[in-house]
Amino acid sequence: MVRVTGWSKITAVDRGERHHGRVVNAVLVEGLVKRYGQAPKDHLALDGLDLQIEEGTALGLLGPNGAGKTTTVRILTTLLRPDAGRVVVAGIDVLRDPAAVRRRIGLAGQFTALDYTLTARENLQMFGRLYRLGRRQADKRADLLLERFRLTEVASTPVKTFSGGMARRLDLASALVATPKVLFMDEPTTGLDPASRIDLWDLLADLVRGGTTLLLTTQYLDEADRLADRIAVVDRGRVIASGTPDELKCRLGGDRVDIRLTDVTQMDAAVAALREIASGEPMVDVANATVGVPAAGDASAAIAGVVRVLDRHHIAMLDIAVHRPTLDDVFLAVTKR
Ligand SMILES: Nc1ncnc2c1ncn2[C@@H]1O[C@H](COP(=O)(O)OP(=O)(O)OP(=O)(O)O)[C@@H](O)[C@H]1O
Ligand SMILES: [Mg+2]
Repeated sequence: MVRVTGWSKITAVDRGERHHGRVVNAVLVEGLVKRYGQAPKDHLALDGLDLQIEEGTALGLLGPNGAGKTTTVRILTTLLRPDAGRVVVAGIDVLRDPAAVRRRIGLAGQFTALDYTLTARENLQMFGRLYRLGRRQADKRADLLLERFRLTEVASTPVKTFSGGMARRLDLASALVATPKVLFMDEPTTGLDPASRIDLWDLLADLVRGGTTLLLTTQYLDEADRLADRIAVVDRGRVIASGTPDELKCRLGGDRVDIRLTDVTQMDAAVAALREIASGEPMVDVANATVGVPAAGDASAAIAGVVRVLDRHHIAMLDIAVHRPTLDDVFLAVTKR
């Protein structure tokens, strides 16, 4: 994990950033370009990336390996300078005043930045000092975070004896020592067990309800679906699709009814019959003896129609199910992979 250094006092009142009753972008990114290495062997990691996150909302940055997610997070958290573009975080130009940005953000990077020789509690207290919390306040905050991340029992144990998931939880806790206005989390749940993932989701949802703006990167589509108000799909350094999870799913044309036939030799007859009622061309998967029918509108009404038409043609089925598009479908469709 990378950690922003040089924190100064966290002020309760952030001058000039509160605009009551008005929608404000906590993060604004325009035309971000980042090249690694020297020409002609340079690599274009970000190729004109644009983003916007409204204050008090969560954005999920979704993309395959190498898409540019970590590069984006590093630029937004002042750790890396872009080659071109404009970046405003919490109302402050990141390139012009990185120190002021650091005072207002929290970051949990993709790799941990813990001191493995210290105990869990000592690590959190150390971050408290970095944030210049008073000693008593730092201790209180450390104990609260240890509890919320289920680490109280191992609070006095050196981190070097921790499992990967325990270290990850402590690392995430350390990003929350100072209750930041804008929180960046680069693949926060990678390496966590299912229970810890759900704990973290609840905790992040609480923070966003409390007014924190969250940018999280993830490869887990269910995570983006559950946590993010909006999703930006990144591929090769550009945003190739964005919207609310529901908007993205709608683009795929809504629900589908999947029918598994008892006898695959009836497939042609089934497709012909289903064409009578389908709102689009049925999709055939011979290997699984399955045919999918696009359902315009109410999928449960479509099921009744499917059952009736197959019955009329004496075609038997093993199974029938409504398939609602998932973010996996969205991702595959927009990246065409
Ligand atoms: N320090 C570096 N030097 C050279 N190339 C780099 C460096 N860091 C990243 N890259 C390249 O830039 C591109 C974007 O990398 P980045 O780490 O931002 O992707 P990512 O979306 O975070 O991927 P992942 O899901 O694997 O974490 C990749 O092609 C990567 O190889
Ligand atoms: Mg990454």
